[in-house]
Amino acid sequence: MALRHFLTLRDLTQFELKQLLVRASELRQMQNKGECYQPFSGKVMGMIFEKSSTRTRISFEAGMSQFGGSAIFLSPRDTQLGRGEPIEDSARVISRMLDIVMIRTFGHDIVEKFAAYSSVPVINGLTDDHHPCQLLADLQTYIEHRGSIEGKTVAWIGDGNNMCNSYMEAAHIMGFKLNIASPQGYTPKEEFLSEFSHCVELVDTPEDAAANADLIVTDVWASMGQEEEQKLREQAFANYQVNEQLMALAHKDCLFMHCLPAHRGEEISATMLDHPNAVVWDEAENRLHAQKALVEFLLNQAKI
Ligand code: CP
Ligand code: NVA
Repeated sequence: MALRHFLTLRDLTQFELKQLLVRASELRQMQNKGECYQPFSGKVMGMIFEKSSTRTRISFEAGMSQFGGSAIFLSPRDTQLGRGEPIEDSARVISRMLDIVMIRTFGHDIVEKFAAYSSVPVINGLTDDHHPCQLLADLQTYIEHRGSIEGKTVAWIGDGNNMCNSYMEAAHIMGFKLNIASPQGYTPKEEFLSEFSHCVELVDTPEDAAANADLIVTDVWASMGQEEEQKLREQAFANYQVNEQLMALAHKDCLFMHCLPAHRGEEISATMLDHPNAVVWDEAENRLHAQKALVEFLLNQAKI
């Protein structure tokens, strides 16, 4: 059995990632045609959420049902995880009963530790450092609207956060250029930046990043777990809003994405989600199809 996990985007080779994105679009078409495809009847996913979620929970739960399987929502509030049962023990027990596990948590070391002790595939549903499932959906959405992303320019405007880190990995694997505009003190961690200097550039202003971009992406100013910094961040990020004026600096066919939830009037203007080049609803829907492709890949690998 080839046990594979998906903790960061780099757990897939370039070939595997590209195949998975093709498959995600196929699964989207099948689902939208109403085709019934249930290869995983009886398979059960455990979903551990230590942070809130709308898209991630619904897409994994719906995806498992559509595949003929099911998903169990596990909140630390109601499990022994919340009362301090060690990750190592929890991982061994949970993975004996389930076929695949998804975890959304704080420290990235927690998903790494869980995976190290798990006997089934583990998927990172967001940590403080990475959000690789969102990148699957973003890449699928770009390709569906514009074709290959190789050689294109992507602008990241805002916090050097988990999404930004996953974009850096995507730039490396998929061969695009990533321009990052973040306020001082909120740039990505040096360890990530230095590793990706061949495809990532820190620029001075959002305008510099947006110039000639093929895709502009942003995210909330304060991520989950940073709620107390909200006011401080509002000041630091005041000039980092993605709006119609910023979009006008990019290529005419530049797309706009946001992983959502969005804060109108903060990281985006009130009308940015309605911009003709905004593809955020497709992006959100593709969480379902891209993650179904991921689950199919990981469960099929486990059979080899
Ligand atoms: N984009 C995203 O992961 O959304 P949720 O927090 O709603 O899962
Ligand atoms: N950076 C955000 C993404 C939410 C999907 C957070 O971590 O809260």
